[in-house]
Amino acid sequence: MPRVSIEGTNKSFEVKTEEIIYNALSDQGEELPHGCLAGSCGACKVEILQGKENLHLPGVIEQNTIDALRIELNIDQTKEIRLSCRAKVLGDVTIKPIK
Ligand code: FES
Repeated sequence: MPRVSIEGTNKSFEVKTEEIIYNALSDQGEELPHGCLAGSCGACKVEILQGKENLHLPGVIEQNTIDALRIELNIDQTKEIRLSCRAKVLGDVTIKPIK
């Protein structure tokens, strides 16, 4: 099963393939920062430090929110940003929640 690891902690979670990051970790007692849980507020943004190829590509709603966040927060284009409430896991990833 894929693993989601949180950078800077010793926390790592086994998740099911196709599970959404936020839901998978929440079910195991790890509450990531969040807001709407619908892909529009951006409060659940995480940087993908490893394994970006192990996530489904973002859908339109997620991509629009990420694009807006990049402009609003001046996030470097080289950083891989995803929304934990939308991103589905296919393999191992390491994430870093962005405050
Ligand atoms: S919690 Fe609002 S976009 Fe994910």
